[in-house]
Amino acid sequence: MLKTHTCGELRLKNVGQAVWLAGWVHRRRDHGNLIFLDLRDRWGLTQVVFNPAVSEAAHDLAAQLRNEYVIRVHGTVAARPEGMQNPKMPTGEIEVLADALEILNEAKTPVFYINEETEVEETLRLRYRYLDLRRARMQRNLILRHRVVKFIRDYLSARDFIEIETPILIKSTPEGARDYVVPSRLHPGKFYALPQSPQQLKQLLMVAGFERYFQIARCFRDEDQRADRQPEFTQLDLEMSFVDREDILQLIEGLFIAIVENVTPEKRILYIPFPRLSYEEAMARYGSDKPDIRFGMCLTDVSDLVASGGFHVFAEAVAAGGQVKGIVAPGCASYTRRQLDELNSLVQTWGAKGLVWMAVQEGGVRSPIAKFLSEGETAALLERLGAKAGDLILLMADQPAVVAEALGQLRLEMGRRLGLMDDDVLGFAWILDFPLLEWNAEEGRYQAKHHPFTAPMDEDLALLETDPARVRAKAYDIVANGYEVGGGSIRIHRRDVQSRMFRAIGLTEEQAQAQFGHLLEAFEYGAPPHGGIAPGIDRLVMLLAGEPNIREVIAFPKTQSAVDLMTQAPSPITERQLKELHIRLDL
Ligand code: AMO
Ligand code: AMP
Repeated sequence: MLKTHTCGELRLKNVGQAVWLAGWVHRRRDHGNLIFLDLRDRWGLTQVVFNPAVSEAAHDLAAQLRNEYVIRVHGTVAARPEGMQNPKMPTGEIEVLADALEILNEAKTPVFYINEETEVEETLRLRYRYLDLRRARMQRNLILRHRVVKFIRDYLSARDFIEIETPILIKSTPEGARDYVVPSRLHPGKFYALPQSPQQLKQLLMVAGFERYFQIARCFRDEDQRADRQPEFTQLDLEMSFVDREDILQLIEGLFIAIVENVTPEKRILYIPFPRLSYEEAMARYGSDKPDIRFGMCLTDVSDLVASGGFHVFAEAVAAGGQVKGIVAPGCASYTRRQLDELNSLVQTWGAKGLVWMAVQEGGVRSPIAKFLSEGETAALLERLGAKAGDLILLMADQPAVVAEALGQLRLEMGRRLGLMDDDVLGFAWILDFPLLEWNAEEGRYQAKHHPFTAPMDEDLALLETDPARVRAKAYDIVANGYEVGGGSIRIHRRDVQSRMFRAIGLTEEQAQAQFGHLLEAFEYGAPPHGGIAPGIDRLVMLLAGEPNIREVIAFPKTQSAVDLMTQAPSPITERQLKELHIRLDL
């Protein structure tokens, strides 16, 4: 090793020792006679002092140092003089009096400060990611990520799970997001797909008898990017045989609690055991199947109270099969005209037609619809909504899906404004009883809400052919702070049920054979009952790190338009490569 110690470990007990340190020049202060350096490596910072009285050669060379030069220093550990200690630095009680210095490499002036936690434009950070990764925030995040993944591996290994790798080049199958595909040179005109998840493979591992499998698995999906989505991301993929839903929920709940207690004890889990909501309840109360339960302000249905009232917008919406729902923003009755107009425009960007407000005051309400409401109707509304003087009621009328989306978003916006989202709190919850299918209006058929291997509830199985929309699935999601952190299900393990499911989503027997023949066939050779889940590692670490997007916890992420700004991928390939792959471009 070029160093005897790291830059994070020297303490008073090391005083008098001769040491070699090596790393990057983090900061340099030239006091003429004395030159002070903060030397940085992965483990921390150590102050190094160059004094011509100790070594004139080292002092002269130190005068040439610039930020981010890579150096190696020899010296003696000394206690810092009285009053010069830095209690904010773990090594703040000592310094190294240098007697030799070697410059291992020079560095251009970095394009942004490495040694300050200032905001830097993200495109610049991604273009020079290797510099960005030197900064304290990214070092913290990636080290945290490592600790989370290691904890998961240890936890599951201790419970008799084994990690098995599954291929990255697999067969393209429909149902799901768009595949990334890879052309085959040996088989002209044929393509592999990159896995969107190891779903079918982990099920086949259950047929193969492994019973408890997990994998830290890379997944690839060609979909529109968002703050919590990347084209490639990582799942904790997990599957078990001879289990029911409760076994999976208990295992994952225990794992998540243990991760927080052991890796990020500074975070607080809001409720243990994790609350369980049905999909229907989540949609009704939060307008979302990934509710942020750190605060209340739930959506309340008042349709029955306004259906026959004098305000035509509400009455007409209810008559047309819609609903009227409201939320109560505590203490916001004093919102100005301008603020209310702003909320009105905001909900329209989420698809709503408008917003009715009611400011609750001592002895009455102020509202554009006050004149349409009798005293009794007003009182009934306030009581149903639980609103009191000083509160602002926000009401919306529309079809249920529109109200859920727009009023759900408004709830989040008000929660943000009122500071109700504490990032040190993790509001985990389970969402259960999802519908098995959802209608795809574009294609005029049902599609699987999760994926087509999800088992229907036994008691709903008979409805698969007669009333598909009412079939509930043995599926579950784990959510936290408004993010879907993981999803899974008990699977179909019988060939006949799997065939019925494929039929329900509009696949003919031939199509099902061509696309999923391997799975159907495997089910004929003794498939055990099985189920599993896949928490998203990036999203989990993002929440544990308190970061606003998953790019902050991925070493080399892609932009919103799926570009790697550092390597400039995707990029053209040569004519020769194309020819070998039998591909002609049609641009
Ligand atoms: P699902 O598609 O719900 O389920 O994905 C599971 C979890 O993976 C994470 N995730 C993502 N993270 C970052 N970027 C993305 N583009 C992205 N897409 C998904 C989310 C999500 O909850 N095979 C099933 C799991 C199963 O049934 O066992 C599956 O992949 O946190
Ligand atoms: P209008 O009668 O269309 O002029 O609307 C009167 C008020 O009702 C305006 O403040 C609108 O923003 C609001 N409004 C209109 N449609 C809806 C709706 N579907 N839900 C809630 N408020 C609405």
